[in-house]
Amino acid sequence: MSEERRDERTLVVLITGALTGIGRAAALAFAKGGSRVVISGRHKEAGQGLATVLHALGAEAEFLPFSDPRLSIREPPLRTIKSDMFGTMAHFSSLWESSSVKQPGRKSQMNATQLAKTTNGKAVEELDVLVVGAGFAGLYQLDHLRKLGYNVKVFEAGSDIGGIWYWNCYPGARVDSYEPLYQFSNEELWRDWNFSELYPSWEELRAYFRHVDKKLGLSRDIRFNTRVTGAEFDTDRDQWVVQASDGSVTRAHFFVLCTGLSAIPYIPSIAGLKDFRRICHHTGLWPQEGVDFKGKRVGVIGTGASGVQVIQEVYQDVAELTVFQRTPNLALPMRQRKLDDETNRRMKETFPQRFLKRAETFAGFD
Ligand SMILES: Cc1cc2nc3c(=O)[nH]c(=O)nc-3n(C[C@H](O)[C@H](O)[C@H](O)COP(=O)(O)OP(=O)(O)OC[C@H]3O[C@@H](n4cnc5c(N)ncnc54)[C@H](O)[C@@H]3O)c2cc1C
Ligand SMILES: NC(=O)c1ccc[n+]([C@@H]2O[C@H](COP(=O)([O-])OP(=O)(O)OC[C@H]3O[C@@H](n4cnc5c(N)ncnc54)[C@H](OP(=O)(O)O)[C@@H]3O)[C@@H](O)[C@H]2O)c1
Repeated sequence: MSEERRDERTLVVLITGALTGIGRAAALAFAKGGSRVVISGRHKEAGQGLATVLHALGAEAEFLPFSDPRLSIREPPLRTIKSDMFGTMAHFSSLWESSSVKQPGRKSQMNATQLAKTTNGKAVEELDVLVVGAGFAGLYQLDHLRKLGYNVKVFEAGSDIGGIWYWNCYPGARVDSYEPLYQFSNEELWRDWNFSELYPSWEELRAYFRHVDKKLGLSRDIRFNTRVTGAEFDTDRDQWVVQASDGSVTRAHFFVLCTGLSAIPYIPSIAGLKDFRRICHHTGLWPQEGVDFKGKRVGVIGTGASGVQVIQEVYQDVAELTVFQRTPNLALPMRQRKLDDETNRRMKETFPQRFLKRAETFAGFD
């Protein structure tokens, strides 16, 4: 260890508890400078795994158990970083800034002090891939990338999976692409799932997503009620540094936005709207508990797909309905029909060809 005393670049990372992210981040940062890294902690496997990664990066790295006598040395230049609390992050920041092991290469816009200020007391999580959005696209990415062996998490602003089928739970909301085309083509998912209608309702889509979740175990890697609020690329470490509404900061090598086409609902600037004191909702942000229309005077603005659907449903309950249409739209009869088990069975014989065709056509139909 006397050799290490003279080695300005030596770092000891103490991996304590489950929060290994900061220790790992620190070790990776220092290792890039060609350091000698000594890792220790309670979790032998995690420590040895980190040593292997650091080796691959060209660093000299080894894991030592807590009991190793060489670890009793604590004074500089042997640097000790604990990865079990927020204070550690601040400690890491000051080490980073005072360190003689400055990173070569491009200048990052982020620095560790900035990060420490934004973590809101939480440890920085490290991922291979951070996916935003738990609709069709995000769920597919999660399953696919996990199967490729990546460490992936999905951040979702809503409190359940389904994407637009979580937010658009207004009366009449339903699919207008005929089944079987509006579902995943993975046979594991369609083999024992039957839609009951050619154009299923939002309720049935939610049940479908629950089925998908049960089959693939997706929710365990999804952080709900977590809106991504900012992201910057740290050029020193080739990672995205992503901020979320819960105050957390996450580092990821890949940042995949599956945020859909209607994440920000359009609200027209109608004079007096802010002062309107009565009930007012947007179909794309519909209250999860529903809205009681019975006996009310209702105005619907817009006759796009959402307007057409909501009008057809709520007119049955309301006392009076006024539709504000700016531009006439084309609406065709849906020709909805029920799908019994026998129909589903017969349809499934054609699924593989139809899914293949779907992937080859411009609009995604067969
Ligand atoms: C009512 C309705 C019916 C539709 N019916 C059809 C149909 O029949 N056929 C068809 O082909 N298409 C239809 N669409 C289009 C629909 O957008 C797509 O079919 C599909 O659902 C898009 O999936 P997605 O995963 O890309 O995005 P989305 O389902 O929109 O999912 C995006 C997710 O990202 C999340 N998100 C966004 N920003 C953030 C952030 N900053 N942080 C965290 N999370 C975030 C959102 O909360 C959302 O859950 C319909 C759309 C609507 C609104
Ligand atoms: N597949 C389905 O079953 C389904 C169901 C719902 C939604 N969607 C999809 O979701 C997306 C959004 O659909 P959407 O119907 O919610 O929105 P949309 O298609 O953008 O329609 C918005 C409607 O609001 C009107 N509007 C906007 N501002 C207005 C104003 N100031 N005064 C009066 N009218 C105003 C528009 O009229 P103008 O035309 O004059 O602008 C239009 O009729 C689309 O891609 C749609 O295909 C699909």
